[in-house]
Amino acid sequence: YMIDKHKYLFKRSNFVIQVKVSSPDYANMKKEDVLADFMLRIEHYQERYQPLDEECESDLSFMKIYNTGEKVLVHKHEGHIQSRIVYYLMNIHIVPRTIYLTRHGESLMNLEGRIGGDSDLSERGHEYGKALADYISNQNIQGLRVWTSWLKRTIQTAADVKAPQERWKALSEIDAGICEEMTYEEISSKYPTDFAARDQNKFSYRYPRGESYEDLVARLEPVIMELERQGNVLVVSHQAVIRCLLAYFLDKNADELPYLEVPLHTIMKLTPVAYGCKVEHIRLPIEAVDTHRPKPKNA
Ligand code: F6P
Repeated sequence: YMIDKHKYLFKRSNFVIQVKVSSPDYANMKKEDVLADFMLRIEHYQERYQPLDEECESDLSFMKIYNTGEKVLVHKHEGHIQSRIVYYLMNIHIVPRTIYLTRHGESLMNLEGRIGGDSDLSERGHEYGKALADYISNQNIQGLRVWTSWLKRTIQTAADVKAPQERWKALSEIDAGICEEMTYEEISSKYPTDFAARDQNKFSYRYPRGESYEDLVARLEPVIMELERQGNVLVVSHQAVIRCLLAYFLDKNADELPYLEVPLHTIMKLTPVAYGCKVEHIRLPIEAVDTHRPKPKNA
């Protein structure tokens, strides 16, 4: 019993240090003081509050999460939204881990400024794949898993990374419908109304016979849920898809999302911390074209 109690107290103080040090409440406090203060706070809560009770509050719907997910109790959940919330809260965890996001290496279509398609990597794209594999192996990441899309350019990019790999159709690039494989100039001269409409509201604009960013966000929901469940993951995907994943982790809104900068040959290292996510950009030294089209000033 004593050993268990010590283990429990140790786990609890560790948890408090990891999770509460980055709380806005403790922005200007020393680490050691945070632990003492938060323990006191728990004591105050225990003094003032009563736990929700299935018998006394038999008419309420609530959820109890014990010891950060060891046990979950769901009481009288009602309807779709509540069950989605329960599902979400059952899938998140606080075990430290890192998510690496990268686009595929430069592709032959990137070289021509064409969007979409399923082309191979350029020579520099293949070099990026090798450099990515070296970087990842030097990081010595515990239990790493690699996820790519179904498109050749991501599979080729991840080919040399030594870790179990999974292919997700949901990670494939935004479907540009009738504009697939065209350059932005070609789209603006062939479909000027559509081109202007996309600049007006890039998040909601849906390519004819294709997708919008809004569609993409919905398609990525299972990927995001699984990312929440997992430990260390390297995601090799595409510009629009990575914008959606970044927006989720970095809390960006629908106006910012479609314009987030996701340069080629750059790894974005995300470390979830309490109340947010740390992000670091690692640019590997292999030249690549710039595929970013900024929001036009007059749009
Ligand atoms: O240009 C590369 C690309 O991945 C295209 O396949 C895709 O349509 C585009 O980026 C998405 O970026 P944007 O939404 O800015 O056009």
